[in-house]
Amino acid sequence: MKSVLITGANRGLGLGMVKYLINQNKAEKIFATCRNESQELQAIAAQNKNLHILRLDVKNTEFFDEAVSKISEVVGDDGLNVLINNAGVATKYTKLGLVKTEQMIDNLMVNTVAPIMLTKSLLPLLKQASVKNDEKPMSTERAAVINMSSILGSIAQNDQGGFYPYRCSKAALNAATKSMSIDLEKDKILVASMHPGWVRTDMGGQNAPLDIESSIRGIFDTLAKLGEKDTGKFYQYDGTELPW
Ligand SMILES: NC(=O)c1ccc[n+]([C@@H]2O[C@H](COP(=O)([O-])OP(=O)(O)OC[C@H]3O[C@@H](n4cnc5c(N)ncnc54)[C@H](OP(=O)(O)O)[C@@H]3O)[C@@H](O)[C@H]2O)c1
Repeated sequence: MKSVLITGANRGLGLGMVKYLINQNKAEKIFATCRNESQELQAIAAQNKNLHILRLDVKNTEFFDEAVSKISEVVGDDGLNVLINNAGVATKYTKLGLVKTEQMIDNLMVNTVAPIMLTKSLLPLLKQASVKNDEKPMSTERAAVINMSSILGSIAQNDQGGFYPYRCSKAALNAATKSMSIDLEKDKILVASMHPGWVRTDMGGQNAPLDIESSIRGIFDTLAKLGEKDTGKFYQYDGTELPW
């Protein structure tokens, strides 16, 4: 990949993706967006001039165009190959009797509205990358949007109930993945939802079975194999297709 943008890249899976791309030399230019730079992310950027940190609270959609201008200056007419909408929040323990309006709105804003609006803002750069690589098949080497979803957003696999804010926001993100895949098919931009597995991060907690490195390795191995037949689908980090 020539260029990748990852939101929520200061910790957790986002930071893990940055580290993987740097260590494996998988991307020429990496844009790591975050609300607050972590020391770890800053230290990696100090050693790697191809890592660009951009301050971005994904709730502040009014700043998206400003961020796109900065990215455009770096990528020039190559455009942006891959957008990974990773930043996310999960309000826990929200049974029907306890769920609050603010929790619903906050989860929907970060997990659904922001990825849609950021994809909209970055569309000119994604299209540019697709045109620039028109000899390549639909793939992450050409142009792609990857929405970091969750198995908890699968309606078919919901056998536990609850988690209204998180489940609804990820199910809605999955609906956006499907629509984007249809809308962007003519531009040969691949769109997929990804479930990273249950991973030991602040969100996943210490009881999660997967470490960050294993999840990330699986995610990028899976992404590398995606092609035209996979656009508009929901995958798990190990390549298994998940039901909506
Ligand atoms: N871990 C799991 O088991 C698991 C399972 C399924 C899906 N996922 C999904 O994977 C993605 C990453 O999760 P994670 O486990 O790495 O979670 P995490 O450790 O809690 O990290 C969440 C990231 O999202 C960022 N973020 C939250 N709100 C933001 C905002 N308004 N603007 C910008 N950034 C914001 C956080 O930044 P701050 O530091 O500024 O808060 C942080 O970088 C999420 O979309 C999550 O739903 C995770």
